[in-house]
Amino acid sequence: MMRQDHLITATQLSRDDIETVLDRARAVADDPAAYADRHAGRVLALCFFEPSTRTRMSFDSAAKRLGMNTIDMGDVDSSSVSKGESLSDTVRVIEGYADAIVLRHPSEGAATLAGERVDVPVVNAGDGAGQHPSQTLLDLHTIREDHGLDDLTIGIMGDLKYGRTVHSLAAALTEFDANQHFISPESLRLPRSVRFDLHETGAQIREHEEIEPVLDELDVLYVTRIQKERFPDENEYHRVAGEYRIDAETLEAADDDLTVMHPLPRVDEIAPDVDEADHARYFQQAHNGVPVRMALLDTLLENANPDGDEGTGV
Ligand code: CP
Repeated sequence: MMRQDHLITATQLSRDDIETVLDRARAVADDPAAYADRHAGRVLALCFFEPSTRTRMSFDSAAKRLGMNTIDMGDVDSSSVSKGESLSDTVRVIEGYADAIVLRHPSEGAATLAGERVDVPVVNAGDGAGQHPSQTLLDLHTIREDHGLDDLTIGIMGDLKYGRTVHSLAAALTEFDANQHFISPESLRLPRSVRFDLHETGAQIREHEEIEPVLDELDVLYVTRIQKERFPDENEYHRVAGEYRIDAETLEAADDDLTVMHPLPRVDEIAPDVDEADHARYFQQAHNGVPVRMALLDTLLENANPDGDEGTGV
């Protein structure tokens, strides 16, 4: 049973925690009406200091499908952040308006700080190049629906240095003893700290610069965008941009059951001709954000209100 107050990193999640949320996500998907009024009167605050389509909108949709209201901080430029208000003050104010906070921020560690400052549940919706653990839950749900989570061989390709979805997914997969192949240019390898943490768990990891030698071994290929916005030097981005591109021809060498995933948005890492292939699962993956985030909110709010206390009612 998941007993977390906040969701800050995937590293904090045990196999049992993950399975609790994913089992509930399956139950939500099978019978959404049973969850429709579950958190009526409660409010979710959406605080996005960086752009988002999927995470912001799927949390909004998930909350509303649980009977909640949502309030959105809006763009940084139209909030008092632009007047110099600190993150600490911002979240301390917002906890008075809401029963849970979803936070995306450009600084690694921002969600940890927010979680230390407030008593309502905080979900890290991406902290710089750090982690994005609710994305990981929907990634795992997508993988589980196709392959289960045991005896999995996965290739994770693209920007492994700045890709926060990669850092979270790799950590969570250690709970299932997955064989993990990391494919990237040398300059975008996993950060040393992430590699160290994976090795500490005894994880089976291998690193490559080309996809071809491992493609036919994979159950899942998880492709990521090169994170242009994180590069200190744009010339360095242009040196590696477009280096990896998966198209229908590439996938001729793959197993018929290969699942191709991407957290999206994509730029040109996956050619449009893959979209209609049986391998493609990235749009379904994005749609899975709703039941998984419903299950996550339900679990965190249940933990925060074990006696079924009513919400703020704002
Ligand atoms: N996958 C993901 O985090 O997408 P957004 O940046 O659109 O939220």
